[in-house]
Amino acid sequence: MRRTIKPMSMNDYDDVLALWQNTDGVGLNESDTRGAIAAYLKRNPGMSFVARDGKRLIAAVLCGHDGCRGYLHHLAVLPAYRRNGLGSKLVEKCLAKLKRLRIVKCNIFLYNDNADGERFWGSGGWKKRPDLCLVQKNLISSRPKRCC
Ligand SMILES: CC(C)(COP(=O)(O)OP(=O)(O)OC[C@H]1O[C@@H](n2cnc3c(N)ncnc32)[C@H](O)[C@@H]1OP(=O)(O)O)[C@@H](O)C(=O)NCCC(=O)NCCS
Repeated sequence: MRRTIKPMSMNDYDDVLALWQNTDGVGLNESDTRGAIAAYLKRNPGMSFVARDGKRLIAAVLCGHDGCRGYLHHLAVLPAYRRNGLGSKLVEKCLAKLKRLRIVKCNIFLYNDNADGERFWGSGGWKKRPDLCLVQKNLISSRPKRCC
């Protein structure tokens, strides 16, 4: 099948959600509803990507920024397609978009128990910040299963 990488659109949402729901290391919450992702893509146009093998969705990543720092969320590659450079390729495409906007730094959120994820990011030169931890407050009441 022919592999393609394209900017994510809301037409991809159902496939992308199914991939994320079935991927360890990806946590979902109220920020991942159809409405929330539509708002995210609108605010960060052309910066998030999906990969397909023919019609089959095989990988996805969300990318955005706050005008200063970039953020990547929910990078996921189907197990059968891993260790083939696809995760790196999607990250590369996101970082190119951020650089074009003169964003100088990019952050990701990684669960402490995601050893494979840590090896992936480490191999790409991403550095842990042991001097920082995530501090967060919920602004609406909800009980996410697992999220960051
Ligand atoms: C992390 C993930 C996106 C990597 O995708 P991928 O397409 O396999 O990554 P790449 O093929 O580009 O890997 C690049 C390098 O990262 C390192 N790497 C990736 N996965 C690794 C693993 N499981 N163990 C050790 N090193 C790994 C290797 O150095 C690899 O290069 P190599 O294959 O030539 O040795 C994929 O494993 C995944 O979807 N994991 C579950 C979701 C997740 O944890 N996402 C990150 C959330 S922060």
